[in-house]
Amino acid sequence: MQFSYRPGKKILDIPDLTIDAGERVFLFGPSGSGKTTLLGLLTGVLNAQQGSVQVLGRDLAKMSGSQRDAFRGSHLGYIFQLFNLIPYLTVEENITLPLRLHADRRKRLDAGLHDEAKAIAARLGIDNLLHENVVNLSVGQQQRVAAARSLIGAPEVIVADEPTSSLDFDHRERFIELLFDCVKQANATLLFVSHDRSLMPMFSRQLSLPDVNRVANTTVAA
Ligand SMILES: Nc1ncnc2c1ncn2[C@@H]1O[C@H](COP(=O)(O)OP(=O)(O)OP(=O)(O)O)[C@@H](O)[C@H]1O
Ligand SMILES: [Mg+2]
Repeated sequence: MQFSYRPGKKILDIPDLTIDAGERVFLFGPSGSGKTTLLGLLTGVLNAQQGSVQVLGRDLAKMSGSQRDAFRGSHLGYIFQLFNLIPYLTVEENITLPLRLHADRRKRLDAGLHDEAKAIAARLGIDNLLHENVVNLSVGQQQRVAAARSLIGAPEVIVADEPTSSLDFDHRERFIELLFDCVKQANATLLFVSHDRSLMPMFSRQLSLPDVNRVANTTVAA
């Protein structure tokens, strides 16, 4: 699979990479090495120019843009590095968005939308903020809203891009515990990007992006 944002400047050239169902992968590499780009390709936010990307047995390149959006919303939980919260919605509306947009995902719920949002928010310590507008929240609170939104409705694949970068120690611990509970409960596949190497041993596989990418994207200062 090959990808570039602009012609002539290849960012990723990964001849072969397979992540098995149920794996918990810690993806690492220097800033600028292409981790977020790879997550974009695996979630169908970006499209490879060459080769193919298959997720849950489906070839993303063979889907239309709207099919990819529906597939992502139904089966994937994506915690974006920059959160991508919807600024004019409340915390609860942001958290429940994938459920309201995707009936498949809603069907997997045990409880109603509000109860489910409240339960997941409580585990992350943001249940007192459900009716707040997300723009009024601190960065760490926003990151927890993004985490709750990605985990609600038991997606089969969870992709998390630096999900703990803005959290203090206690909230980081609570988030990691919730994340692994969700992964276990849904038997989900987890791809977790982080610079925090202390988390590495919790994962079943440690994947260095520069080791699988033929393009060298970073120059380390001497
Ligand atoms: N939207 C974009 N348009 C053009 N180039 C981009 C874009 N996003 C990223 N790049 C380039 O692609 C390369 C990989 O960026 P990417 O964001 O995937 O790195 P990263 O490993 O996630 O880094 P970080 O650890 O800082 O988040 C960088 O050289 C960056 O400049
Ligand atoms: Mg990144």
